[in-house]
Amino acid sequence: MRKLVVVVGLLFCVLLWVSSCSTGRVENGEIPGEELLHEDDALAVEDDETIVVGFAQVGSESDWRLANTQSFENTFTEENGYYLIFEDGQQKQENQIKAVRNFILQEVDYIILDPIVETGWEGVLKEARDAGIPVIVADRQVDVADESLYTCWVGSDFVKEGRRAGEWLADYLGKQGRGREVINIVTLQGTLDSSAQIGRTDGFADVLEEHDNWVMLDRETADFTQAKGQEVMEGFLNRYSDIDVVICENDNMAFGAIDAIQAAGRTCGPDGDMIIISFDAVSAALQAMQNGEINAAFECNPQLGPIVSDIIEKLERGEEVEKVQYVEETYFDTTMNLEELLKERTY
Ligand code: AHR
Repeated sequence: MRKLVVVVGLLFCVLLWVSSCSTGRVENGEIPGEELLHEDDALAVEDDETIVVGFAQVGSESDWRLANTQSFENTFTEENGYYLIFEDGQQKQENQIKAVRNFILQEVDYIILDPIVETGWEGVLKEARDAGIPVIVADRQVDVADESLYTCWVGSDFVKEGRRAGEWLADYLGKQGRGREVINIVTLQGTLDSSAQIGRTDGFADVLEEHDNWVMLDRETADFTQAKGQEVMEGFLNRYSDIDVVICENDNMAFGAIDAIQAAGRTCGPDGDMIIISFDAVSAALQAMQNGEINAAFECNPQLGPIVSDIIEKLERGEEVEKVQYVEETYFDTTMNLEELLKERTY
């Protein structure tokens, strides 16, 4: 039995309690978390079948993130039997915590949490557990001692992505006859303490350790955004004259880095003086490879909506779900037929 009747019953108190309201997706500029159900939202779920899902998203910092949001919005539709309440955390954990608390007050059936950072979730997850609302963690992970605080996690193996990038670099340099040369590397890191940052940094570092001729000159966060990617890369270019490799922990930071490199009159990509390695592999990154600006991109699959929906369907049937579910991922480089690959790329 859904909790929709209770949602409607609570509406009056809720409306008194809040100063502002929202329906569905919160756009940039609004502070999420302060908003609760609009009257229309409550009415929209006044049936016994619809599954109400609250989704606390990280933000809209990257092409990957937009594709990820799209995947949830395309899956959790009325036609598929869902009512989705979307909250954009705008890259702030406190916004996401407020969003989850609001979902609990609204007595949603399920909470999907894409946590900005790994730590600091115990309190709000306990509140969800006490309220009997299953929490499905998607994309990034939560670091909690008590794993019963969430139902399951689905997302990428970020460490594997980072290691794969390092192995690709070793192979590439070897083929160029640069296997024993001193290789100076800089890294534009994602949001510090996010799983995507931790995993990619650690995975690449594993391979770095195996190569005593590789030197990590610097690592700095650019928060997964293009604007900060450009800013951080400008700083690197001012401080170091001999960068051989730029690791960008997502495509958007790579786009910013490329802008900075070109503005400084330098070149990158297979024929340039800096090798660019990126993560996500969105269409624009494959196009940048076609333009000779990026050497390789390691895929991070954003299409998590259908997988989470399958999990919810299993839970609805009272079935067990796997605690940890990794998605399939690949990589792309300029030796591949990018034109053909782009035809099939959906994000
Ligand atoms: O958590 C996934 C990462 O977050 C993606 O690599 C990045 O683009 C996004 O912002």
